[in-house]
Amino acid sequence: MNATVASHDRPATETGEKDPPKHVAIVMDGNGRWAARRGLPRSAGHRQGVEAARRAVEAARDLQLTYLTLYSFSTENWRRPAGEVRDLMGLLKQFIIDDLPRLKQEGVKVKVIGDRDNLDSELKALVRRAESETKNNDKFILQIAFNYGGRDELVRAARAIALDVKAGRQESKAINEGSLSDYLDTNGVPDPDLVIRTSGEKRISNFLLWQAAYAEFVFLDVLWPDFTAETFAAAIDEYCGRDRRYGGVNVAPG
Ligand code: IPE
Ligand code: IPE
Ligand code: MG
Repeated sequence: MNATVASHDRPATETGEKDPPKHVAIVMDGNGRWAARRGLPRSAGHRQGVEAARRAVEAARDLQLTYLTLYSFSTENWRRPAGEVRDLMGLLKQFIIDDLPRLKQEGVKVKVIGDRDNLDSELKALVRRAESETKNNDKFILQIAFNYGGRDELVRAARAIALDVKAGRQESKAINEGSLSDYLDTNGVPDPDLVIRTSGEKRISNFLLWQAAYAEFVFLDVLWPDFTAETFAAAIDEYCGRDRRYGGVNVAPG
């Protein structure tokens, strides 16, 4: 039996984590390098990156995941040249326009996390449409992290809590890990079991800072546009061999 499990709702197993993950989050990195290696503009890498994202969604459903979070644009990505930022905004717009009917039909719920305030009105409207047209779907949840930063999300949550306390809707003493989670963009979605990052970089880059507290990490050398269903399955195999302890101790049976 598990000797101890801290305040986490998913206890560690006796023999290591054999259950497949329910929620995988991916830092889709390496589009620019993929393009550079081919002598192509970075925009070509981003276009291929969208194809890889489509493949990842299909693969996630085949692999029986319930939640997939894709990091598409960080709060720091505004530092890129204006043309590249425009391309990335345009690609999300086009993705919603092209894929929403199919996602809707396949029972996928689309949720966009991140700060929407700085997005243009067309993109805001498309995001709203994607969410409202898929809100009753529950087979599979696709979270798109766009203009997302873990620190920014925590700052916005802190502001919302402060307002609620001031207005008497919330008691400061009643705030705990669970209620703080409710103020995050990911409200209602369980923490990721596995975070994958492609392109050989080994950093979190402001992704799901709160939610990834006990996630497993798999870093892959493959550049995002080359990510396939096989790559995805191999990352999940690696996850399944890991021993998740959540700060506790797994005592060998017998
Ligand atoms: C990931 O690829 C896409 C985004 C961050 C939007 P990059 O554009 O970061 O590609 P590299 O890291 O420059 O190769
Ligand atoms: C992280 O990739 C953000 C996304 C994949 C959207 P970056 O390429 O922006 O991260 P850094 O700059 O290498 O840390
Ligand atoms: Mg990058």
